[in-house]
Amino acid sequence: MSAANGLVGVDIGATSIKVCQLKEARQGFSLMRFGYCPLEPQTIVDRHVMNAQAVVEALQRVFRESRISQRDIALSVSGQSVISRKITVPIMTIAELDEQIQWEAENHIPFDIKDVNVDYEILRRRPEAGQMDLLLVAAKRDEINDFVQIARQAKLRPLVVDIDAFTIQNVFEYTRGLPPDQTFAIVNVGATQASINIVSRGSSAFTRDLASGGTHLTEQIVRQVGIPYEQAEEMKCAASQPMAASSLPSKVFQVIDSVCDAIASELQRSLDFFLATSGEERITKIYLTGGTANLPQLGSAVERRSRVAVEVMQPLERIPIESKDINQEVVRQRASQLSVALGLAMRKNKEKRV
Ligand SMILES: Nc1ncnc2c1ncn2[C@@H]1O[C@H](COP(=O)(O)OP(=O)(O)OP(=O)(O)O)[C@@H](O)[C@H]1O
Ligand SMILES: [Mg+2]
Repeated sequence: MSAANGLVGVDIGATSIKVCQLKEARQGFSLMRFGYCPLEPQTIVDRHVMNAQAVVEALQRVFRESRISQRDIALSVSGQSVISRKITVPIMTIAELDEQIQWEAENHIPFDIKDVNVDYEILRRRPEAGQMDLLLVAAKRDEINDFVQIARQAKLRPLVVDIDAFTIQNVFEYTRGLPPDQTFAIVNVGATQASINIVSRGSSAFTRDLASGGTHLTEQIVRQVGIPYEQAEEMKCAASQPMAASSLPSKVFQVIDSVCDAIASELQRSLDFFLATSGEERITKIYLTGGTANLPQLGSAVERRSRVAVEVMQPLERIPIESKDINQEVVRQRASQLSVALGLAMRKNKEKRV
């Protein structure tokens, strides 16, 4: 794959659009193009696009400004409209499975099957038991169609629609590999959602999205410190920088600590649920990513609640920045926000997921 036929990864998040284009060579990927465009509040609410025109314009702007000419893109969906389940079925051929999968989905997915796109991945064949384990994925067609329509209006060609959690897992696999004997969690804490993916023995075993993130944190600073939203947002981001943090009111830190603790406690409930239902004994590590992972207070809170070592994922660890047009400083600052776009940019043409 050269830069010319690699898809552009387009991550339409609640607070910003992130785009990445990679080049793949024998020694691995490098970053060729990068773009970032903030979205006004209320443009996307609960993953629903409220102002389609604003998203179309932002997409056009971010492609223009980052000088990306490639129009074939990969998009992703997430949140409440996506469900994945690990299921076990009798061993069968791919043709049989393709026929059977709708029926399996009806049994395991709590959405009306007419409204969803279903896909699967074979995780493991266990001939000795006559069974195979699958990862079943269903995403609501409405949600996919909204994003696809908007991309088309921006004169883009969406060829792949993936799921946030899996694209991040792809990046993780590329940078660190997936240890075959360990169970660990990757948690993407963005602006309005925190998505959990537990990876066990090399594949996703559990995903869940929590409705909390950085926007809620900023709103709490507004409320409890009594300052305007922009100022609260600025102070929150400053609190992630050790140098700037000393000049902030202590109340800001109190609010950050308490919201991070609430996120950590919700996360812990999901981890406990997984441990109670999966038969796995323990989670060995938690990796954080997404914009809110920049706050060291989040990592500390998660570590305190879970008693598991926490590390901030470094999505650019094995992706050098190739192009001189890219502002390295900006990319490094935004690195935690780029996991989804980078994972999408790694997707090959037309591979199906949902
Ligand atoms: N340095 C920082 N310190 C603290 N918070 C930050 C920092 N940088 C970004 N954020 C927060 O991260 C959030 C944006 O992260 P991200 O881009 O991952 O979310 P999103 O994709 O827009 O939202 P979502 O995934 O919920 O749809 C915002 O709430 C922003 O305030
Ligand atoms: Mg996001």
